[in-house]
Amino acid sequence: MPRTEGSALYPNQFSENIAGSRPKVNILAAKSVTTCQFIHGSSSHSAGKESMSAESETLIEIKDLHFSYGDRKVLDGINLQVPRGKVVAILGASGSGKSTLLRLIGGQLRPDQGSVRVDGKVIHELDHKGLYDMRRNMGMMFQAGGLFSDMSVYDNIAFPLRELTDLPEALIRSLVLMKLQAVGLRGTTKLMTSELSGGMARRVALARAIAVDPMLTIYDEPFGGLDPISLNVIALLIRRLNDALGATSIIVTYDVSESLKVADYAYLLYKGVVEAEGTPAELLASDAPFVEQFIHARPTGPVAFHMESPPYREDLRISA
Ligand SMILES: Nc1ncnc2c1ncn2[C@@H]1O[C@H](COP(=O)(O)OP(=O)(O)OP(=O)(O)O)[C@@H](O)[C@H]1O
Ligand SMILES: [Mg+2]
Repeated sequence: MPRTEGSALYPNQFSENIAGSRPKVNILAAKSVTTCQFIHGSSSHSAGKESMSAESETLIEIKDLHFSYGDRKVLDGINLQVPRGKVVAILGASGSGKSTLLRLIGGQLRPDQGSVRVDGKVIHELDHKGLYDMRRNMGMMFQAGGLFSDMSVYDNIAFPLRELTDLPEALIRSLVLMKLQAVGLRGTTKLMTSELSGGMARRVALARAIAVDPMLTIYDEPFGGLDPISLNVIALLIRRLNDALGATSIIVTYDVSESLKVADYAYLLYKGVVEAEGTPAELLASDAPFVEQFIHARPTGPVAFHMESPPYREDLRISA
């Protein structure tokens, strides 16, 4: 098992060691179709969707989701839906439970109560194979990157293609170069991940998340560490990829302005629940104090900057 940077997660960033049985899919035809569609900007896509049913307009349905780390309650009854084909932003202050929610969607964590249903299947009820099949259709860009530190950029992106498909090496090479071209880093194939800047590593992580043209791509803080130009390009890339592949995307971030530019719909998490939701236009026009403070990044309002902690004077042992 290769080493990863900042996390011990598996590529496509799912933590379980699922090495035992990895059925490969022959996606040769699917890949060439989807990649061409992306390059030519086509908006219709059917290849690669086979294993996800088209029964419902809703790809992800989360109902009354509760989760705690020990005594620390993080999610306290989340309800949300992600429609197929859309880009949905999940916003919230640092520590509000966004990454935790993604781990529950990916099946890395098990809910204390409630459920996450993806493509009609309750994630925590899936067996090992069911979960693996589900994850094959998900691409995940983790907040910590999770790149393999002992592999080149090229091999990092080729890894999921080699693991999950039977594509010949020549085609894998073309796909790797296309993904790197999309994130503006085609010249970095030979670099080791330790030779990348923070922003470059984020872009390589993104290229890897989309390597197999997944049906559902989940981006955890895709904009962290990017310079303003890269940030804009990556935001637009997420939108364009989603539309070109007919896929579904979740962007988890605290970068409100950038995510609202590309999302169709957004949920705002606060104190373990969805405190507000709406289209970007609805949220931008809202005068609800919480939404206003969050959307316009106001320093004062219902959202506190400090995490819950004992009184300051008491902590510093200053007597009155
Ligand atoms: N593995 C863990 N064990 C215990 N507590 C955890 C763990 N991971 C996260 N937490 C706690 O759960 C809460 C939510 O964390 P999470 O990482 O989901 O927040 P986030 O919204 O993604 O924050 P950020 O925007 O800073 O990435 C935090 O209070 C954090 O301390
Ligand atoms: Mg996070």
